[in-house]
Amino acid sequence: MDKMWSGRFLASASNLLDEFNASIMFDRKLYQEDIEGSLAHAAMLAKQGILTKEELTQITDGLNQVKAEIESGEFEWNISDEDLHMGIEKRLTAIIGDAGKKLHTARSRNDQVAVDFRRFVLKRNLEIVDALKLLMKEILVVADKHTETLIPGMTHLQHAQPTNFGFHLGAYLSMFKRDIARFEDSYKRNNVSPLGCAALAGTPHNIDRNMTAELLGFDSVSTNCLDTVSDRDFALEILFNISTMMMHISRLSEELVMWSSYEFSFVELSDEYSTGSSIMPQKKNPDVPELLRGKTGRVYGSLMGLLTVMKGLPLAYNKDTQEDKEGVFDSVETALISLEILKEAIKTMEVKAHNMEAACSVGHLAATDLADYLVEKCDIPFREAHFITGRAVAKSEELKIDLSDIEFKYLKEIDSRISEDVLDFLVLRTSMNARTSEGGTSTARTKEQLESFKTFLQG
Ligand code: ARG
Repeated sequence: MDKMWSGRFLASASNLLDEFNASIMFDRKLYQEDIEGSLAHAAMLAKQGILTKEELTQITDGLNQVKAEIESGEFEWNISDEDLHMGIEKRLTAIIGDAGKKLHTARSRNDQVAVDFRRFVLKRNLEIVDALKLLMKEILVVADKHTETLIPGMTHLQHAQPTNFGFHLGAYLSMFKRDIARFEDSYKRNNVSPLGCAALAGTPHNIDRNMTAELLGFDSVSTNCLDTVSDRDFALEILFNISTMMMHISRLSEELVMWSSYEFSFVELSDEYSTGSSIMPQKKNPDVPELLRGKTGRVYGSLMGLLTVMKGLPLAYNKDTQEDKEGVFDSVETALISLEILKEAIKTMEVKAHNMEAACSVGHLAATDLADYLVEKCDIPFREAHFITGRAVAKSEELKIDLSDIEFKYLKEIDSRISEDVLDFLVLRTSMNARTSEGGTSTARTKEQLESFKTFLQG
């Protein structure tokens, strides 16, 4: 009968219950946050005269010893202690005696776990932002080199218009920049202290919530205790932010997988970040982007899992909420390793610029330019220009050539209003550079965009 809450029980908990109920095997990851939270809480209790100076010293020394024991591997994590909060408090009391029993004054595990988990998530928001910035820097190195490398821009995976590879990578830089804003925004919104909310309704003890908030690095104190101990929005937000970021990573990964195929051959992943086949000796497989794509699914699962756990819970704390942690731990780890490995894969891959450019000479990428020419130079309404261009594409198909190689005489036959200067419009590089509208693909506009990402990363 050694449970902290055993007072009203006549029989001991079954081993099966211990196994089912405990979170200590995974929530021990929060030990730093838990000990820091307890140190702040004890300091506040002492300042308010609820603990004596001597008790505070004992508690502080004791907690530091527990921390050292955890870090040296000596600490015994015991499933019958249920969770890390009780495991640590029990060990503290074993070391320092009665003063340890006073630490939980004006506190509940409900606000304690809310503090620990929230601070864990807040820190990870910032770590992910840092890792995202490193990834963006590496993508920028590649993008900078390829603002003139033509690559077919596609819709429906069909050749659409000529763009450059720097511009293409710029699209991913835009996504990652938005991801950073989301993590930072979540950080700001959730940097609010739950400590002092106790079980659900606050406490009659004369506590100072602002003091603990400040000691723990929170910007402010939460407004309503009932909400605070029930709230897991901060966990849902990081799961959503990671899910969206992984979706972006997954789309880039999908392109890397395609581009690594013989059919595309736009990039070759380095040997360091490729794998072989156990049976087919020639294989060099893009396992890294494939796994990034695959792991995205698991992260979505954690987001859906927690949304579902939360949806039917009456206020305030319910044990269901204990299911909030593993999915977040797993997703945070996945996010950090994914960002790191994607950065390395991009840094070490070979860009086959020649093949990207060669791919532009099929698929009539200049078709929109011909239509634009007819509008601009011949004053033909766009719908009609679209139709005439369609005829020119059909003619090119018949001749088994790309529209960019068609001879003037064929175009003249299709529409007599066309004059020879049309051929300039059909040059693919000219076509790419013609898209000078803000955010467009021209090399000048691409450089401008890449510059804006650099400024963002410096700021
Ligand atoms: N292990 C619990 C969790 O992670 C801590 C809070 C328990 N509170 C309670 N009243 N049972 O959610």
